[in-house]
Amino acid sequence: MTHRPIGVFDSGIGGLSILRALRAELPHEHFVYFADTGHAPYGERGDAYVQARSLAIAQQLALQHHIKALVVACNTATAAAIDLLRATYPNLPIVGVEPALKPAVALTRTGRIAVLATRTTLHSSRFAALHAGLAHQAQFILQPCDGLAEAIEQDDTTKIIAAAAVFTRAVGPFGTKTGEIDTLVLGCTHYPLVHEVWAAQVGPQVHIVETGEPVARQTARLLAAADALAPADATGQLKLLGTGPAGHLQAAAARWIPAIATTTIAS
Ligand code: DGL
Repeated sequence: MTHRPIGVFDSGIGGLSILRALRAELPHEHFVYFADTGHAPYGERGDAYVQARSLAIAQQLALQHHIKALVVACNTATAAAIDLLRATYPNLPIVGVEPALKPAVALTRTGRIAVLATRTTLHSSRFAALHAGLAHQAQFILQPCDGLAEAIEQDDTTKIIAAAAVFTRAVGPFGTKTGEIDTLVLGCTHYPLVHEVWAAQVGPQVHIVETGEPVARQTARLLAAADALAPADATGQLKLLGTGPAGHLQAAAARWIPAIATTTIAS
């Protein structure tokens, strides 16, 4: 059990922002990363589609790779499918990713927080419940970023900057100077991969909140509770698979998860 890998999946390379934190927290673990690029973007599709893809990926990771835990490294898939995944695999520790509204409330001084995520995440009932529980503590400005995950996937700088500018226009009336929005939540795992674009848009006075580290710590806690952590003398390895071009994923993994032995498998 302890030597089995942890499965991690996303609609594409965005989940590498979570895997980077997992790898830092759990350097002895083996990981299998599944990028569903052939079916992306998830964020502009309906729940049923994302649920079907999430179940198919979890099944492949469980049956072919014998994973000991699953990290849903995608806000959109967590919102649409995590309850279904937990019901289907009741004995598998499963960790999801949700926009970090609670940490943002703890950080904000002005009480104004911008949240960027996909349309599907922002329209989900899971997000509505999270938002409703905190709406009395801060004002949240919710902004879907259509096309942005795809632009990041393609590493298309012009499209990335155009999509980021939509955010600036949308939050414009609230501003990001003193007394206005002081916290920005990146609620899609693709968005931290262009952290520098957000930093340039909002300036140094705005906190930028991501979810990789809390997700990694929660995964470590669940594995420790199940007595399933890899031994401290093991060297973690990474297997890559997915439904898109293997070279694209390999290059992204080399960029975001350096210094790990990596194998790419055709899926
Ligand atoms: N990276 C995903 C998320 O966290 C979704 C991107 C997409 O496929 O739309 O929401």
